[in-house]
Amino acid sequence: MTQTSSGSSYEDLLLFYRYAGVDTALFDTPVNHFATPGPTPDIKPAPPQKPVPHNPPPQRPAVAAPIPNDAQVDAARGAARNAQTLEELRAQLQAFDGCPLKFTAKNTCFADGTPGSDLMLIGEAPGRDEDLQGLPFVGRSGQLLNRMLAAIGLERQQVYIANTIPWRPPGNRTPTPLETELCRPFIDRQIELAQPKMLMALGGPAAKSLTGAREGILRLRGKWYVYHTANGMEIPVLPTLHPAYLLRTPSQKKFAWQDFLAVKMRLKDLQTQD
Ligand code: URA
Repeated sequence: MTQTSSGSSYEDLLLFYRYAGVDTALFDTPVNHFATPGPTPDIKPAPPQKPVPHNPPPQRPAVAAPIPNDAQVDAARGAARNAQTLEELRAQLQAFDGCPLKFTAKNTCFADGTPGSDLMLIGEAPGRDEDLQGLPFVGRSGQLLNRMLAAIGLERQQVYIANTIPWRPPGNRTPTPLETELCRPFIDRQIELAQPKMLMALGGPAAKSLTGAREGILRLRGKWYVYHTANGMEIPVLPTLHPAYLLRTPSQKKFAWQDFLAVKMRLKDLQTQD
């Protein structure tokens, strides 16, 4: 085996280089740096690189979503006040361009069920299925809601159903406080015109909006509050857990059951008073 001057084999030396991470030859011919300085290898600097043109990302086309301001909240109040019937209110809502959510939604989800029913249920905002059909609570949460109503002897057509926000927020995101403010005059007027005897707020956002309370839904649920309409009606409102939450957390259904039973009892009391 060929030996180096120090006595080790060249194979050992190559192995050592490999372990040391020296695994690439710089030149085809070896350079003896210990020998008398000779001509240094001709290492040319790399040619200058052409600058890569910077392409700015394509601009998104402008979406016709106006920035809401106080004037638009006033416009929403005006439009809602102008409506003298629920059908007029639906038309006012469909013509109202002041809320950006309208421009991303496919449909306006105004209401389902029967106006004038004793019980009105109010959720937060439409989801995907509701947006496609233009009706509140028709997706999976709506199906659970139907079963909860059936459990207290009510069909969907015996109640009136709406949302605090009538347009689906993109990707089901939480509506901003401003979007909620822009839609509030419409749901307030809808309650006033529908004249329910009792309200159920489904989930935290609807509960906060209808009671003015700031606590979470787990604290609010199961307690009666009073909702005051602009024309002086006082309507009892019971916050309860949202069906979508119950689908994710079935162990909480017992609380919603208690709330629905409380509504059943109160509706029965009302009917015996009539
Ligand atoms: N969740 C809501 O709050 N409303 C609907 O209409 C559907 C799901």
